[in-house]
Parts: sequence; structure tokens; C-alpha cells
Amino acid sequence: MRTYLVTGGAGFIGSNYIHYMFRKYENEIRIINVDALTYAGNLENLKEVEDRDNYTFVKADITDKDAMMKIFKENDIDRVVHFAAESHVDRSIVDPEVFIKTNVLGTAVMLNCAKEAWEKEDGTFAEGKKFLHVSTDEVYGSLDDEGGYFYETTPYDPHSPYSASKASSDFLVKAYIDTYHFPANITNCSNNYGPYQFPEKLIPLIINNALHGRKLPVYGDGKNVRDWLYVDDHAKGIDMVQEKGRIGETYNIGGHNEKQNIEIIEIILETLLEMLPKDDERRKFISKDLITYVTDRKGHDRRYAIAPDKIKAEIGWEPETMFKDGIKKTIAWFFEHEDWMESVTSGDYQKYYDEMYQNR
Ligand code: NAD
Ligand code: TYD
Repeated sequence: MRTYLVTGGAGFIGSNYIHYMFRKYENEIRIINVDALTYAGNLENLKEVEDRDNYTFVKADITDKDAMMKIFKENDIDRVVHFAAESHVDRSIVDPEVFIKTNVLGTAVMLNCAKEAWEKEDGTFAEGKKFLHVSTDEVYGSLDDEGGYFYETTPYDPHSPYSASKASSDFLVKAYIDTYHFPANITNCSNNYGPYQFPEKLIPLIINNALHGRKLPVYGDGKNVRDWLYVDDHAKGIDMVQEKGRIGETYNIGGHNEKQNIEIIEIILETLLEMLPKDDERRKFISKDLITYVTDRKGHDRRYAIAPDKIKAEIGWEPETMFKDGIKKTIAWFFEHEDWMESVTSGDYQKYYDEMYQNR
């Protein structure tokens, strides 16, 4: 039975990936999920899998080398899938240091522990061991409104502390590949959306605010473009890269679904009105009148757009979920999990929201 070590599995994409993997492989695999449970990590996301015999949760910080080495020593890990990171650009602008610690140092620790556990005396690596580093298209910088795409060959040009820290972590992985022939892949994915996404990111924040009749904050002119991918399609891409990708290669993951932020907000409002029951009180306040233009994000990247040609040609990955279906599935999930939204927005969330938005 193959054993996976997933880092950051209690976060948005990591938890969706764990659900995806158990749906696909059921009892053929074992997953160890290591997560420090920061504000973004939530074990509620994994309630349905916590009793499985082939699932283990370890609360630990990826920058803690002893704790990580212990996991490698006590388990014969075959695959590492490395999600754990600080992931929100706005937070990175206010407090960059934790991004450097977790994203850069944490990745270095994970690489080092896997290398120590997997390297043989002759410097080669045990058969079948693989490390997948989950990264972002934001490392490539910003495209302009006129066009163009991010390819795997596009030079790195990160602008935010978040994307700079992810770029640094990618370079560390590349250095391990080049120096030690370490068996790793990197995936650079576009913006994800779907169940369990923390409401600091655009889509869940807009859904949550609209359902409460709160203002919908649009940064700048609202015409920044992001390339949105349903989270299950990302999970499938990660699994396919690890199974079929060429070791040492980078693969961009994205589904050619570019939309301006303002379009996303309008689609969410329309979809909410389409899906809410006719007698739901909230219909009275859900309208475009909630849209509020606020001060732009510092250094706001204009446009992201992935060219997924390589992963399609080499591996046969293609997205399955069209945006119009994915957004309905996401909104339906939030309707059915209002308690989830309530639990993640109680406590520190209000403080975060006030600090980030009050004087914007
Ligand atoms: P997230 O913020 O929802 O989850 C991050 C998880 O990592 C949380 O469970 C958190 O508790 C954990 N974590 C944070 N610091 C840790 C530490 N020091 N030690 C152990 N665990 C720690 O993030 P996400 O949106 O699920 O993103 C996951 C990965 O995918 C990140 O590496 C991110 O850069 C990348 N990515 C995200 C997107 C996106 O649209 N969200 C797109 C492309 C790539
Ligand atoms: P976000 O979800 O934070 O993802 P990223 O910055 O990693 O792409 O933001 C997506 C886009 O939405 C980005 O252009 C910033 C914008 N945005 C708003 O206009 N208002 C908001 O309240 C948030 C959170 C984001």
C-alpha cells in the first residue's frame, strides 16, 4: 500500500485533495496529513475521513525539522504532496515574515527530510519515491490586458511577498532536482475555487457577504483578471502529474477560464438569486447595489492566465468542470454548510476583516 505524506491537508486545496484521493483510491492508499492548524487549517474539512484506518492526522509545523524527520522515520513515505503554505496575498502585504518562514524555510525542511529518508548510499533515490510541490501561477508575475499566457518557460517575476516566497520555494525544489536529481515535480496552478475555501479569498468572501447583505469590496477598477479552476480539477491534475509526469518537470495547471473580478461578482449575484428559494428573505438585499469599489491592493497584479498545453499534451489532463457548473456546486455547498462558514468567521475573522477592510 502506497503511503502519502500530505502537508497542509487541513486547508482548502489540501482537504479537497484528500477527499479526492480517498474517493479515487479508497483503501489502496494511506494518507498522513501534517498540518499546523493555522487560521486557515480546519479539521472540520476532514470530518468524513477522520475515522478511516488508512488516514492519520499529525499536528505539527513544517518548519520543525525534528517533527518532520520523526514522521519519515516512523513511516515508509512513498509520496510527498506539499501544500502547506501561507496563501493569502493581502496578508503577505501586511505581514511578510511568516510567509518567508513557512513557504521558504518550510519547503527547505520538507525537501531535506525527504532527501534524508529517500537517498541511497550511492546518491540515487529509492525507486518510486516522489515529491510534488504545489505552487502557483503568481510566480510568473502579471500579464497585461492585451493578452499572452504563462508557459512553464515564462521567466519568474513575482511581485507580492506571497508570490516571491512561493517563487523562492520553487527555486529550492528546482535546485534539489538539478543538484541531487531529487525526484520532484512542481505544479503551478491558477486561482482555485470550491468547497472549504476560507472567506478571505474573493469567491467565498463575496458569497458570504452577499448572503448577509454586506458590502462587496472590489479592489481598484474591478477589471483585474484571474483564471479560475474548480478545486477538484486541480486535485486530479496533481495526482496525474505524480503518476504520469516526467520526474524533474514543471507543469502548469489551468482551465482557460479568465474572468474579470467584477464579472465574477456579477455571476455570483445572479447565481445566488437563481438558486435561493422564492420565499427566501435574503433575496430582498442581494443586488448589485452591494458592490463597493475600494482602494486597490498594493502592487495588484493585473492579469493571470495559464497555458495548460504541456499537461494536456504529455499527461492528458483537462479540466472537467465548467465555471457555470463549478460556481453552482460551490454555492450549493455553502448553502448546505452555513455552520462551517459560521464557525470559520467567528473568533479572529472579524478582527481580520475590520483591519483589512474598515478604512479601505
Ligand atoms: P490554505 O491557506 O487554505 O491552507 C494552507 C494550509 O497549510 C492550512 O491548513 C494551514 O494550517 C497549513 N499551514 C500553514 N502553515 C503551516 C506550517 N508552518 N506548518 C504546517 N501547516 C501549515 O491554502 P490553499 O489555498 O489550500 O493552498 C494550498 C497550496 O496551494 C499553497 O501552497 C498555495 O500556494 C497553493 N496554491 C493555491 C491556489 C489557490 O487558489 N488557493 C492556487 C495555486 C496554488
Ligand atoms: P484572491 O482571492 O485574494 O486571490 P489572488 O490575489 O491570489 O489572485 O483575489 C482574487 C482577485 O480578487 C484579486 O484580483 C483581488 C480581488 N479581490 C477583490 O477585489 N476584493 C476582495 O475583497 C478580495 C479578497 C480580492
